[in-house]
Amino acid sequence: MTPEHCTHAVELLPDRVIKRFRGTDRTGAEREWRALTLLAVHAPGLAAEPWECDPAAGAPVVVMSRLAGVPMRGRARSDAQVGALAAALHRLHTAVPPGVLERVPPRPDLAGELVARIRRWTPRTRPELGGTAAQAMDAGLAWLASAHLDVPGPLAGPQVFGAGDGNLANFLWDGRTVRIVDFEDSGRSDRAFELAEITEHVASWAEHPLDVSSFLGHFALTRAERGRLREYRRLLALVWLFLLLFDESSGNRRNPLDAVERQAGRLRDLLG
Ligand SMILES: Nc1ncnc2c1ncn2[C@@H]1O[C@H](COP(=O)(O)OP(=O)(O)O)[C@@H](O)[C@H]1O
Ligand SMILES: [Mg+2]
Repeated sequence: MTPEHCTHAVELLPDRVIKRFRGTDRTGAEREWRALTLLAVHAPGLAAEPWECDPAAGAPVVVMSRLAGVPMRGRARSDAQVGALAAALHRLHTAVPPGVLERVPPRPDLAGELVARIRRWTPRTRPELGGTAAQAMDAGLAWLASAHLDVPGPLAGPQVFGAGDGNLANFLWDGRTVRIVDFEDSGRSDRAFELAEITEHVASWAEHPLDVSSFLGHFALTRAERGRLREYRRLLALVWLFLLLFDESSGNRRNPLDAVERQAGRLRDLLG
């Protein structure tokens, strides 16, 4: 997920990375630090080493080692790279032992929060809209009304440790293996939700499309997980339709000019 506001700055130095969080974003720093310290113990080498953090500081700072490798966004990926990406995710998801994981707070922006966000966005966004984006949004909202994704209850299993941000820029390929950065939205999650985060992220289709069926084929999903994955992909595709519309209306040119149009088509396809 793309945060609505950027709440930190990242400084890349030759041997270390310094991530400075704004004063209001204490929880982001806490999640980043929790992830790095947990992974240093339970999956050494998968993420940066945690070097320093003072979560009580006015504006928290996390200092970590600098990892080798190039971000997997914005470039074509071979089958071997997709396999290495899936292997890194499998290791991340299963690293934290169940007794430890149950004390990790749920990640932010799970399904219920996203449904609430869509309900807040719709009244100010939908009336301005026409064409294929409006049709896709209406189809998405009609599906959402019958999907019951915001029913409160425990997270569906099997629960995993989730990175929280599906941007392929957070996965670094060093020619042999994939390592993971950016844990400010990490936490306990549903594996199906974490996979949908990646397949629906704009970074996975806007430039060089991720081979989604090859990627998902690396995970032995249960029938129930496959069902939830389908629903979460629809939900996240609808969220991304809004996010890309907001980018477009703010003149933000991070994404291709036809991103909204293409996302409308992607959402329609996912809705069947
Ligand atoms: N420890 C690290 N080692 C190497 N590169 C890093 C590291 N941390 C971050 N980066 C690079 O900086 C980029 C931005 O950092 P990230 O933590 O993802 O911040 P943001 O939340 O702004 O996306 C990453 O996509 C990655 O390319
Ligand atoms: Mg990032």
